Amino acid sequence: MYYFDNGATTFPKPQEVYDEIYKAMTEYGANPGRSGHDLALKASRGIYDAREELAKLFSVKNPMNIIFTYNCTEALNIGIKGLLKPEDHVITTSMEHNSVLRPIKYLESFGVENTIVRGKKDGQIDPAEIRKAIRNNTKLIVTTHVSNLTGTIMPVKEIGMIAREHGVPYLVDAAQSAGVYSINVEDLGVDMLAFPGHKGLLGPQGTGGLYIREGLEVEGFVQGGTGSASYSLNQPEEMPDKFESGTPNAPGIIGLGQGIRYINRRGMDKIRKHEEDLTGYFLEEAAKVDGIKLYGPLDSSRQGAVVALNIRDMDSSEVSFVLNEEFGIYVRPGLHCAPLAHETIGTMEQGAVRFSFGPFNNLKELKYAIKALHRISKEL
Ligand code: ALA
Repeated sequence: MYYFDNGATTFPKPQEVYDEIYKAMTEYGANPGRSGHDLALKASRGIYDAREELAKLFSVKNPMNIIFTYNCTEALNIGIKGLLKPEDHVITTSMEHNSVLRPIKYLESFGVENTIVRGKKDGQIDPAEIRKAIRNNTKLIVTTHVSNLTGTIMPVKEIGMIAREHGVPYLVDAAQSAGVYSINVEDLGVDMLAFPGHKGLLGPQGTGGLYIREGLEVEGFVQGGTGSASYSLNQPEEMPDKFESGTPNAPGIIGLGQGIRYINRRGMDKIRKHEEDLTGYFLEEAAKVDGIKLYGPLDSSRQGAVVALNIRDMDSSEVSFVLNEEFGIYVRPGLHCAPLAHETIGTMEQGAVRFSFGPFNNLKELKYAIKALHRISKEL
């Protein structure tokens, strides 16, 4: 089995993540934050520890300013819909995933205006274009950190500075970067950071979160039991309870905490270097395949571990099907829930075959994938 679909979810996870989830379910599978008995307290502690790991990772001073969500999409929805009101204006880019574009389009019917800044052919966004798009009623800028299609690393620091200069909150989608790229929310000028737990952070699916800068007014849209202030019929305003109603995914969040401990032990820089080396090798070798079309920056220092390609005008789904059936290679074809990004790089019709590498891939596997591409190019 050759798994190159880490952009969708990393697989496998470190063994210790599986072990910790198993332990959380079999040894202390109680409901955290509700009862005061030993097992409930242990589960609560596990969740707090995960929050603290995340806070350290993103240089967030108060861990309570990080809320847990079901996934990165939910986090982005909270950040976007919780902040914007009718007649506000939001700026985003053509390189976004539908998890950003769809909530923004949805808000159009409620009178929220938007500007979608176009990326260049390699997916790069010019911060000057963001600056130009700012209006008096601009209330939010949302961009991805690393494109899920081309891997393009976005100029988040520059955009963060522009946002700060104009007093506009900046929401970053770290779906493809959290756990691999260093993110310091203060240095980058990030006011909200949405992240999945199951990609670079190596936790299980069903986990994600949102950092919200202290003082930023964001509405929650789920109310319910929090285990706190139960006498009141109103949702607590305190963080994280304001946004965390109902029983949380305790085993998942505890597993996510373990994923971060694994990253810290192995070293995030080392993981990134490993992924950069793999991406660099793949880009160089794939370029030698007859009829190959490669998209994105084509430079592993300017892109995440994501490589989008096509072979001549072959349908991307067909190529992926053959990779799966004939070679046991797992990749993602089609539009990757990022239609405007495909439009930007010119692959709206054909889609693209996306290889995305993770911390457990190795050079031997990539050599096999390159051979498979040569064979497909010759034989199909
Ligand atoms: N957003 C994920 C991807 O790019 C699922 O594949």
